[in-house]
Amino acid sequence: MKNFNIALIPGDGIGPEVIAEGVKVLKAIENMDSTISFTFTMFPWGCEYYLENGKMMDNDGIDKLKSVDAIYLGAVGYPGVPDHISLWDLLLRIRKDFDQYVNLRPVTLLKQSLTPLKSKTEKDIDFLVIRENSEGEYAGAGDRLFKGKKEEVVLQTGVFSRKGTERIIRYAYEEARKSNRTLTSISKGNALNYSMVFWDEVFDEIGKEYPDVKTYSYLVDAASLYFVTDPERFEIVVTSNLFGDILTDLGAAITGGLGLATGANINPEKDFPSMFEPVHGSAPDIAGKGIANPIAAIWSVSQMMDFFGEEQWGEAVLSSIKNILNETEQLTPDLGGSASTGTVGDRFVELLTAYADAEIFTN
Ligand code: NAD
Ligand code: IPM
Ligand code: MN
Repeated sequence: MKNFNIALIPGDGIGPEVIAEGVKVLKAIENMDSTISFTFTMFPWGCEYYLENGKMMDNDGIDKLKSVDAIYLGAVGYPGVPDHISLWDLLLRIRKDFDQYVNLRPVTLLKQSLTPLKSKTEKDIDFLVIRENSEGEYAGAGDRLFKGKKEEVVLQTGVFSRKGTERIIRYAYEEARKSNRTLTSISKGNALNYSMVFWDEVFDEIGKEYPDVKTYSYLVDAASLYFVTDPERFEIVVTSNLFGDILTDLGAAITGGLGLATGANINPEKDFPSMFEPVHGSAPDIAGKGIANPIAAIWSVSQMMDFFGEEQWGEAVLSSIKNILNETEQLTPDLGGSASTGTVGDRFVELLTAYADAEIFTN
């Protein structure tokens, strides 16, 4: 029996609504597969916790998370607490303290009718964005001088270390080599004359070790255009923290929206736990209404299973997502249905069970 310890941080807004459905899926896997069990530990951290306790997580929160096998997070941030505090003290804190320097965000169209791009099909939109997740524009280096005065000066410094830049680019080359896909670097060396010039140099330097990998390099502005006009150019993409953040919301837009986009924050060395979460935020505009789409959070379960080495379940969850997408009425309003968050989760578990009966337990 393999037991996996999972820390649950549902967080704010729709975070708890979608994580509840993901947990249903994990429990269904546990019920079906006698070789796997999960132990869940719930952490009530987030903006409500902050308003009560004056902090986003326990003082020893990072220590409490250190020994788990994975963190499953909903969303962080809500009106009433400044975003830069809530995010820096919880989500970004975990990514940084646990050196989750790889952020894997698939941009995969699962059903043609979900893309707003005319004439694009599933085979045209199927790539993986590998986002640098520990430094760069998110280094948090800066200062604010003469606050409120007319001489006020604000600095926000990007930090691109050789170690940080090399390791993410190398990870991307390895992934491209392993999966026999092309690798595209997205940067902005024409304007960011230190950081992105360095990024481009490192991309070329490391590329010498991977002559078998076909590469492309685009400026981020043109790359944004190509995401929309020719997404088929992309197979594996590697980019900086901020560019990866922005581009993956665009990636969500061309594949059915934020209700379907997932991301894994990985510490490849496994010195620390990795974290699985939907790309979307707490969606205050729909929170509490029971209409949040839980599929992005459920796709995170697929990424988590792959990370645990339980690929047959990763595949089962992804295939069941494709299956539920064919039942439009069973989906939430963002995908044209009228189902509630909980109904989607329940129907999903039925489909996963049917899939597992047919594909896993008969083999
Ligand atoms: P958001 O991702 O929360 O919402 C953007 C839009 O997408 C909204 O219209 C929302 O209704 C819709 N949407 C998002 N997820 C959805 C889902 N599962 N189903 C249906 N519709 C969905 O972005 P925002 O409004 O810019 O940010 C809200 C808060 O969340 C802010 O505090 C922000 O800092 C935070 N945030 C957190 C994370 C995270 O925790 N990973 C990510 C992004 C934003
Ligand atoms: C994301 C989010 C975060 C980020 C925010 C909430 C700090 O937008 O995970 O995409 O920018 O990384
Ligand atoms: Mn984002």
